[in-house]
Amino acid sequence: MASQISFFPLNTGAKIPSVGLGTWQAPEGLVGNAVAAAVKIGYRHIDCAQIYGNEKEIGSVLKKLFEDGVVKREDLWITSKLWCTDHAPEDVPTALDRTLKDLQLDYVDLYLIHWPIRLKHGSTGFAPENFVVPDIPSTWRAMEALFDSGKARAIGVSNFSTKKLGDLLEVARVPPAVNQVECHPGWQQNKLREFCKSKGVHLTGYSPLGSRGTTWLKGGDVLQNPIIKEIADNLGKTPAQVALRWGLQKGHSVLPKSTTESRIKENFEIFDWSIPEDLFAKFSEFDQARILRGTMFTNENCVYRTVEELWDGEI
Ligand code: A2P
Repeated sequence: MASQISFFPLNTGAKIPSVGLGTWQAPEGLVGNAVAAAVKIGYRHIDCAQIYGNEKEIGSVLKKLFEDGVVKREDLWITSKLWCTDHAPEDVPTALDRTLKDLQLDYVDLYLIHWPIRLKHGSTGFAPENFVVPDIPSTWRAMEALFDSGKARAIGVSNFSTKKLGDLLEVARVPPAVNQVECHPGWQQNKLREFCKSKGVHLTGYSPLGSRGTTWLKGGDVLQNPIIKEIADNLGKTPAQVALRWGLQKGHSVLPKSTTESRIKENFEIFDWSIPEDLFAKFSEFDQARILRGTMFTNENCVYRTVEELWDGEI
């Protein structure tokens, strides 16, 4: 199974597995089983973050998978992310150390600045008084030090617009390897995709199924879209498989989330077939709408007062 996975090259020389298991909103008590099932099915990439609150459980499961010889550490790709309260340069290494302790690892394959947003150290929630003006260059220098130390074998960003990524590239000594952003047929990120490609930054798509389980977000249900259903029927695949395969053929890695073993398996069966050109062209007819707009990060006191400012107009 594992030999079927495809990879994308990064500007570090490493290869990132094209499909990873997302763990956002995967509750404690379920996330461990999901990770174990995924690795046994053949996944070699697990996407984590300190703010998801489940890295300890994932760490226990990884330890057992290594001990039982199911997978070797060097064959697994683990991503984690720096939360907004830890942007101060002195807090960056401490945050990664906490993540490494929880995951029971001595390095991560990729460490990302989770959002271009800074919150007071130790604060919880998004009350206006918690926001601090971000200083991405100084946070990035601390990320570069983690890269130099080998504790983060690649560094990158998440939720950066084309402009914010461009600004970072202007000052970075170590260019970001990845920008992880919302990406699915209903939010295709064409502008950002082209920019990333031109700069050698790999794009990873989160919510590749349109985040259908996130009921507090108002998105169209990508998997119910008639275009995707028609393509799925035509190819004898499920809408989820078609959405994920679309991502691979566009050239980005995908991070489907599921805690249901049958779906974890379904979402991995996307390597030995492809969407033919005539059907692929139909994706251009999809209505476009960002689902995770980030409204919680915008307020009158924040450096980004509106979602337009947060995404620099890419909304
Ligand atoms: P579940 O965990 O019950 O499988 P996204 O990755 O875009 O954020 O979407 C995650 C949501 O999609 C979760 O609610 C997950 O539910 C659901 N999901 C995951 N895989 C599939 C699938 N193959 N078919 C339908 N829904 C899926």
